[in-house]
Amino acid sequence: MNKLQEPIAGYTYGQAGTSPISLQELELLKATVLYTPDDEKYLRMAGEILAEQAEQVIDIWYELVGSHPHLLQYFSRNNLANLEYLTAVRKRFIQWVKDVCYRPIDQDWLNYQYEIGLRHHRIKKNKTDEVEASPIVHYRYITAFIYPITATIKPLLANKGHSPEEVERMHQAWFKVVVLTAVLMTYPYVRAGEF
Ligand code: HEM
Repeated sequence: MNKLQEPIAGYTYGQAGTSPISLQELELLKATVLYTPDDEKYLRMAGEILAEQAEQVIDIWYELVGSHPHLLQYFSRNNLANLEYLTAVRKRFIQWVKDVCYRPIDQDWLNYQYEIGLRHHRIKKNKTDEVEASPIVHYRYITAFIYPITATIKPLLANKGHSPEEVERMHQAWFKVVVLTAVLMTYPYVRAGEF
């Protein structure tokens, strides 16, 4: 996949453990967010735009986290933000943007969204970068974060000369894939049998 880059520390796409959600269950989730083959097409289009502006994308999200102490604490210990941790995660976050735009939604994709969830939960948080920081990103903020990481993307999708309709379609496709990721990420937070 030529849109993917150099090895990234801690990025284990293709080697993550198996998601407890099956591909059939994923299909039902896709149907629930009204995901269509067109969305895949528009995600590829969005990928071209976002890959080019990946640094800005992450700057916007990090600015959001950095300006809210209740979010920054998840990258911190004793109220001191760990810059190395932020930098390491930043690279994997950029890669995730590319992955959700370009990668096929298959077993590897499913497994990695689960892995991302484990890394926010106390099961695996801090382990990849061997840091000491807050032990868990609380569930409520994962769901709430769907809004900013969707809303902030639209201006970036719009600044490369695409028609308003294309921008809207790309944005809707992005919104759907963010919801899918967020849902899959929260598996470890839900009591057994209730997901
Ligand atoms: C829709 C919601 C969210 C998505 C899609 C998301 C996505 C990601 C991704 C892709 C990574 C890197 C995964 C990897 O290691 O390859 C990551 C890591 C991380 N995110 Fe999020 N995130 C979300 C919400 C949040 C929120 C609200 C916070 C709170 C500040 C947060 C804090 C973190 C932290 C601390 C890590 C590093 C975890 C570790 O120790 O490995 N995330 N996130």
